[in-house]
Amino acid sequence: MNDLTQNIGKIHTTQMGEERIRCNLNLQTDDVVAWCKDVVKQADVIIGQGKNWYLYKGGMVITINAHSYTIITAHKINARIRVMCEPDYECLPEFLYQAIFIPEGAEAPPRSIINDPEIFVYIKDFGTQTGDLGVAAEQNGQVVGAAWTRIIPACGHVNSKTPELAFSVLPEFRGFGIGMRLIKKLFELLRESGYKQTALSVQKDNPAVRLYQRLGYEMSGERTDHARREDYLMIKKL
Ligand SMILES: CC(C)(COP(=O)(O)OP(=O)(O)OC[C@H]1O[C@@H](n2cnc3c(N)ncnc32)[C@H](O)[C@@H]1OP(=O)(O)O)[C@@H](O)C(=O)NCCC(=O)NCCS
Repeated sequence: MNDLTQNIGKIHTTQMGEERIRCNLNLQTDDVVAWCKDVVKQADVIIGQGKNWYLYKGGMVITINAHSYTIITAHKINARIRVMCEPDYECLPEFLYQAIFIPEGAEAPPRSIINDPEIFVYIKDFGTQTGDLGVAAEQNGQVVGAAWTRIIPACGHVNSKTPELAFSVLPEFRGFGIGMRLIKKLFELLRESGYKQTALSVQKDNPAVRLYQRLGYEMSGERTDHARREDYLMIKKL
């Protein structure tokens, strides 16, 4: 229960707001406010930030003023994809943790797992080595996804000219195309930096394998990762 769900009865909007929301989301309903209140009850995540609440549900975001409870707008998730800058590096431990694939039904590992040297190598002193390149997805000022490369002695290492990918999107934001857009932007950055190919190592049963294939990665071999899981080594020519 947060302040917003406790005050759900106060949620309202203007006529202009109603029209905007109906148009942005292609809604058929006559009662936009009642529809938004239902989303409040079922939201995947509610974030209070600055003067607003942001509610996320099924690829949509609703913005509600935290003081007046006016629905400002609602639209599809429209994350901005941009090159990572130094202040983003502090988000890397979170995105490294989120990048650990958890098969359905398996228990999530403890957060301390990222301190294992074989895992920590993906972010240790990021930004100081050749091949350290990254992109971020930002939604309403919050970083919700990150993809970055490094040339490191890790599972997806090929040679000193092939940066290896690490990549994740926060769970509530998965499946809405952010991952695809992040990687395409990263490819641009890698090309601009003169790289001819990039590699990754992915667990064989990770559904992300399909995404990588759609992005043009090709199978290049099989490896056993640091946790003795079977991985594919995949390479994308840039
Ligand atoms: C992989 C991941 C970064 C993709 O980002 P995304 O924004 O969900 O991707 P998109 O919406 O552009 O593309 C959807 C594709 O992502 C993959 N995907 C979706 N949900 C996923 C999940 N929970 N875990 C892994 N991959 C997933 C699938 O390949 C999906 O395509 P499909 O519908 O054909 O199966 C994101 O799902 C994630 O963070 N997963 C967990 C961490 C992970 O597996 N990282 C890769 C390590 S090699």
